[in-house]
Amino acid sequence: MADPKKLFIKTYGCQMNVYDSERMAEAMGGSGYIATDTPEDADMILLNTCHIREKAAEKVYSELGRFRGLKDANPDLKIGVAGCVAQAEGDEIMRRQPLVDLVVGPQSYHRLPAMEARTRAGEKVLDTDFPEEDKFEKLQSRPKASRGPTAFLTVQEGCDKFCAFCVVPYTRGAEVSRPGDRVMSEARDLVSRGVREITLLGQNVNAYHGQGTDGGDWGLARLIRELAEIDGLDRIRYTTSHPNDMEDDLIAAHGDCAKLMPYLHLPVQSGSDRILKRMNRSHTADSYLRLIERIRTVRPDILLSGDFIVGFPEETDEDFEATMRLVEEVRYGQCYSFKYSTRPGTPAAERPQLPEEVKSERLQRLQALLSQQQAEIQDSMVGREVNVLFEKKGRLPGQLIGKSDYLHAVYTQAPESLLGQIARVRITASSSNSLAGALVGV
Ligand code: SAH
Ligand code: SF4
Ligand code: F3S
Repeated sequence: MADPKKLFIKTYGCQMNVYDSERMAEAMGGSGYIATDTPEDADMILLNTCHIREKAAEKVYSELGRFRGLKDANPDLKIGVAGCVAQAEGDEIMRRQPLVDLVVGPQSYHRLPAMEARTRAGEKVLDTDFPEEDKFEKLQSRPKASRGPTAFLTVQEGCDKFCAFCVVPYTRGAEVSRPGDRVMSEARDLVSRGVREITLLGQNVNAYHGQGTDGGDWGLARLIRELAEIDGLDRIRYTTSHPNDMEDDLIAAHGDCAKLMPYLHLPVQSGSDRILKRMNRSHTADSYLRLIERIRTVRPDILLSGDFIVGFPEETDEDFEATMRLVEEVRYGQCYSFKYSTRPGTPAAERPQLPEEVKSERLQRLQALLSQQQAEIQDSMVGREVNVLFEKKGRLPGQLIGKSDYLHAVYTQAPESLLGQIARVRITASSSNSLAGALVGV
């Protein structure tokens, strides 16, 4: 048998890209590829890219330039670009960077093995279609390899919301949900390979509406309840959600589905109704706050996380102060905040832009507040008992690292036999980005 070829994949952007990279690696297994961690010994390099902000997109070109030497040394090396930059700028990538052999958009990954074969015949190949068929059904899985205890599972793709700043509706296309039986069988397969925690993914995961195994329509809450019936699956999470799609049954599930973890990423972007309107978010600061109140009524200890954009076109000091007030009111356990980045082709790109210094100054203030809240909530865990799913060994001897129900990283002295297991841990200390704990009853 010929030596296996080696595939190096570098992933940027969101968890959906992480999931896609895994599936692409599996699919390329069928073409005789195994994964490598080093580009130097690869036969194929694939960059799975992100287009969400300008910096993310520009990184792709500088990264590609770095592979020139490798291609000189190995003319058989094939270089591919996948993901959202591939979708948005496929032709430009081919023009600007002759090193690239292959460009594949996020909805065409099932065609990757065939595309790779064509590059071996000396062709340059580009596929950024939005084909009718479901890429996940066509992406083959390799025979069951065991894997770590946590996994992502994409259940929904694309977005119909068209927030005025965002490229996702253009790079990922319209909202599509995978049928319930496919999700269920993929989840069962993951559990049989050692997975205890599954994070359901979608650009708008709570807009999930897939065909159920009973022929009816399943919303996300129903899907979660069905998944919760799988023995051996202990934790369910989902991300990312839009406030307008938090349906009543999903809120209820947070109160009564024990396997649904008390953590919710619910981006609001801004606390100013004027800006929210211009962002085309179709919710107000107040409707968001009331929604959070309802979620906290059924699950008072839920840890909330969010996304914010500062310096959106025409954002005034007053608008920004409204964002600060909203943050004060919500108290987030975790947050992501960004300076607005102008994205070609989106409506907000046409609006008067704010100076960079204004954006930087606001971001600094917002991040200071968010970090303070994050630290306070993390510190408040000290002395409490939590469940920890141990994922890997720590740097110190005898130490394991895992995540609590609230998604805090927890370092604990624990036997290796607990890897992949959930144990009760008492939190003893809180440092900048993690907690330390001790096994209960040991
Ligand atoms: N679907 C998710 C988020 C997708 S993008 C949602 O609706 O919440 C992840 C985050 O990137 C967004 O929540 C937003 O905060 C940020 N983002 C998107 N476009 C951006 C832009 N043009 N500039 C800065 N941040 C942006
Ligand atoms: Fe982008 Fe808005 Fe869709 Fe989220 S909901 S992916 S921010 S357009
Ligand atoms: Fe980036 Fe595409 Fe995800 S733009 S954030 S990789 S959906």
